[in-house]
Amino acid sequence: MKALVLAGGFGTRLRPLSCSRPKMLFPIANKPLIDYTLEALSKEESVDTVILAVYYMAESLVRYLGPTKYDLGILYSREQRPLGTGGPVKKAKDMLNGESFMVMNGDLLTDFDYKRLIDYHKEKGGIATIALTQVNDPSRYGSVELDWEGRITRFVEKPEFGKAPSNLINAGIYIMEPEIFDYIPDGRKVRIETEVFPKLAEEQKLYGFESHGFWMDIGEHHDYLSANERVLERNNLNECGEKTQIAPSTVIKKPCNFGDNVRIGADCVIGPNVSLGNNVQIGKGCKIENSVVFEGATIEDYSSVKGAILGENSVLERWVKVESGSLVGDYAQISDGVTITEGVTICPSKTIEESILTPKQVM
Ligand code: GTP
Repeated sequence: MKALVLAGGFGTRLRPLSCSRPKMLFPIANKPLIDYTLEALSKEESVDTVILAVYYMAESLVRYLGPTKYDLGILYSREQRPLGTGGPVKKAKDMLNGESFMVMNGDLLTDFDYKRLIDYHKEKGGIATIALTQVNDPSRYGSVELDWEGRITRFVEKPEFGKAPSNLINAGIYIMEPEIFDYIPDGRKVRIETEVFPKLAEEQKLYGFESHGFWMDIGEHHDYLSANERVLERNNLNECGEKTQIAPSTVIKKPCNFGDNVRIGADCVIGPNVSLGNNVQIGKGCKIENSVVFEGATIEDYSSVKGAILGENSVLERWVKVESGSLVGDYAQISDGVTITEGVTICPSKTIEESILTPKQVM
């Protein structure tokens, strides 16, 4: 079976970090998101080839992955314009060889059992089966109504709190038959969730399979931080790359993941839930918790970072404080003694010389 992975979105909600890298290459515990998907697919016996549907920053993905990884063949379906979540399926028609195939959003982290989904799809004999997952509050997503045979009868987009027909939502993983191509218009952007699935449901050819296990999608900054935390928590280790040096008086609270050639000075407290990319430099007396620091960033003496994301090669000078939900863009520089309060986004390459004490975006 071939698996088509949708990997071409702009990731607008993750700007400005997604201005310089595709979401699929965002590091999670120092490994790009796409690797988690490929590793999981490589464990599924029936999947031998992955087709990556690429558009935004396609070349960086092709360069990173090449023709094969984790024993999977990797093919690329390149779009000339964004085709949404449905158009890429139609575009890859010729690569899918007239057989059943899997489609998945590339911005997921999950340990779903794909085999059970495939078996269920075959047993039910629909044109498509959607993996469903339970969430506490479906109002951010779309809720799904099923009949007693597992057919999807209705979708309710972003239901008001308490008005959803169920707590089951579309998990962004599908098994499809080639007949699906007849339902997807050619050569334009198509949103499969709203333009294709409701029609299939109306014709009673769409099934839903409740999948259990870990699932999360990475849409917004807080999802990205939680994904990092969840992966670190699951490993519950302190992992260090090559040539990383940590001063003996520094305390590392589990779990953390440090890349290669990281330097951490004396008397720091790092962790829990901290990922530091390659070549990150931290001075003395710093405190970092629940944060992701991209490669090459520098955090000078006595600075603290809590629940934040620091972009590639960003610099925090001495006594800087970055608080929860804030994001410092790539190459931005925060001067001595500055406090960045909760929920501030600083655009790439900005220099900030005064404290920012209200949530805002600094362009
Ligand atoms: P936002 O812009 O923040 O909504 O993020 P996104 O670009 O990831 O959009 P969305 O969350 O709706 O996308 C779900 C999945 O579809 C992601 O894996 C995207 O990479 C992928 N995707 C979205 N649009 C396109 C597209 O035009 N082409 C391809 N190939 N994939 C897409």
